Amino acid sequence: AKNQELKGKRVLVTAGGTVERLDPVRYLTNDSSGKMGFAIAEAAANRGADVTLIAARTTADSVAGIRVIHVETAEEMLQAVLSRYEETDIVIKAAAVADYRPVVRAASKMKKNDGRLIIELERTTDILQTLGERKKGQFLVGFAAETEQVEHYAMDKLNRKNCDLVVANDVSKEGAGFNVDTNIVKVFGQEGLVEEMPLLQKREVADRLLTLIAQRITHPAKEA
Ligand code: PMT
Repeated sequence: AKNQELKGKRVLVTAGGTVERLDPVRYLTNDSSGKMGFAIAEAAANRGADVTLIAARTTADSVAGIRVIHVETAEEMLQAVLSRYEETDIVIKAAAVADYRPVVRAASKMKKNDGRLIIELERTTDILQTLGERKKGQFLVGFAAETEQVEHYAMDKLNRKNCDLVVANDVSKEGAGFNVDTNIVKVFGQEGLVEEMPLLQKREVADRLLTLIAQRITHPAKEA
């Protein structure tokens, strides 16, 4: 185990891809495996934190010593996170949350016919944005999965969603992002680029990220 620098801190991590159902057997989801989020939860627990992991669909292994709450949809993840937000010190949002869900979720299996099928989608609530708006001293870490202008979009997300750090993965690069054991990330704070990491195992990315978070919690920058 690492030193216990996060002892007494309550950490909430989200992982995996949300599932938005069309009917009982069909759904929209994404390629998130949950590996990044599980690695972060483990790294936080190794530093003594009290960790709760809110997991949507994942293929990652469960981790001993971490409370896991399973959810399916973006809405369920929102409720699971909000109900614990007030007593949480650090939130790390590594999940890939659906931006849209089907307007209608059919109670029984949809039948086909000869014509085209048009599925209407509506926006889900942006969880990170909601957390940013309701922030009362929590340290908020968002992720950004980008393919171009990574810095621009990451800084925009950080400012709009009131995050303390944004971890940007360039998901167009081999070995980065969804459903692999490695990642390539740049971490941004209010002041801009904080750390650029080379291709690393997600465990190592998680460990370095937790080092940054622990530093910033124990030595917060003075307000400008
Ligand atoms: O799970 P793995 O296979 O290990 O892959 C890891 C990962 C690529 C999924 C992870 O590193 C990652 O980048 N997660 C965020 C993916 C994503 O949805 O990015 P985004 O740019 O669409 O969303 C930005 C942030 O807003 C994220 O923190 C996301 O959790 C949050 N969000 C998005 C939509 C929504 N409705 N609510 C949210 O809170």
